[in-house]
Amino acid sequence: DVHPLLLCGGSGTRLWPLSRKSYPKQFTKLTGDESLFQASARRLSGPGFAAPCVITGADYRFIVTEQLAAIEIAAAATLIEPQARNTGPAILAATLELHARAPGALMLVAPSDHVIPDAASFRAAVQAAIPAAEAGQLVTFGIRPDRAETGYGWLALSEKPNADFAPVAQPLKSFVEKPDAPTARDMLDGGTHLWNAGIFLFSTNAMMAAFEAYQPEMLRLVTEAVEAAEKDLGFLRLAADPWAECDDISIDYAVMEKADNLTVVPYGGVWSDLGGWDAVWRESGPDEAGVVTSGPSTAIECTGSLLRAEDGQQALVGIGLTDIIAVAMPDAVLVAHKDRAQDVKLAVAALRQQG
Ligand code: GDD
Ligand code: MG
Repeated sequence: DVHPLLLCGGSGTRLWPLSRKSYPKQFTKLTGDESLFQASARRLSGPGFAAPCVITGADYRFIVTEQLAAIEIAAAATLIEPQARNTGPAILAATLELHARAPGALMLVAPSDHVIPDAASFRAAVQAAIPAAEAGQLVTFGIRPDRAETGYGWLALSEKPNADFAPVAQPLKSFVEKPDAPTARDMLDGGTHLWNAGIFLFSTNAMMAAFEAYQPEMLRLVTEAVEAAEKDLGFLRLAADPWAECDDISIDYAVMEKADNLTVVPYGGVWSDLGGWDAVWRESGPDEAGVVTSGPSTAIECTGSLLRAEDGQQALVGIGLTDIIAVAMPDAVLVAHKDRAQDVKLAVAALRQQG
């Protein structure tokens, strides 16, 4: 069986004012009836999958339990981070915890804030990745790029992916995390690069060996944090002192860019990292005019816009808008040009400064 690891950190500031530090985007119902976190957990459940492991911050532990209980999934382990240290230490801690329970088991890392509507085809891609992971490879999932995105990791293939974009494993030449714009442009034009989906399959042995080779100090600290972890109401609270000493670094920079045992499985289905309101607009199925409305909101002669109000709250009306994002919450309203959706994090920073 494959053991899913649901990553549940990140405060999702680009989706303010819906996403808050106290209630990040993965727990909100952005595009469907379930939260992104619940949809991720469900996607990786059923035949072939063991009970998931979750790693999150102390503030979110009860939201996690509640949302999993609501869809009748029980976590095999819920690890609590004393503070956010990015995905490097988080994935390593979960790997070590799993290795103690099931030495050599396969772990599938799954961000909890992605939209992957076709669960069956995604599970088929995971199945296709298993032999390579069992052979000691770190397996990535590659998405066909359609823009020179600098916010993603890029996967350099030795040759073009197969014409049908079928989920067939192939070796990876290198991994480039968050390139600058000219590099991203070259990779898009070259045709032998894919986006890194941020989803990884590997055996606990392979990931431990990678940390031993590239991040030995982190391996030492995180081992200590896991061994000295405290059991607390069914949660496993990582030991604060060694954890605080860990570098704040993502798995992509810590290990993937350095490793030489990388494999990619192309994934041709719809995949989106809901990294901003522009992506929410795109994934919510805009009407013919390119308009998305939700809650008590009305668009009159608008195009290319998203209007979102909360059920039971004040009404939102837009007239003659073009490419505008308007999100009304009871205590905050965002109005932004759709091209500036990625800058919403600036609003959060500005508000923080004002106190
Ligand atoms: N538990 C925990 N603790 N989870 C975390 C932490 C942490 O400290 N930091 C981030 N996460 C979670 C986020 O909530 C998200 O689900 C996932 O890990 C990935 O983190 P992001 O911060 O969203 O990463 P990214 O989007 O900048 O980049 C990654 O994903 C891209 C695709 O979406 C990279 O893997 C890129 O290479 C990739 O293209
Ligand atoms: Mg992300």
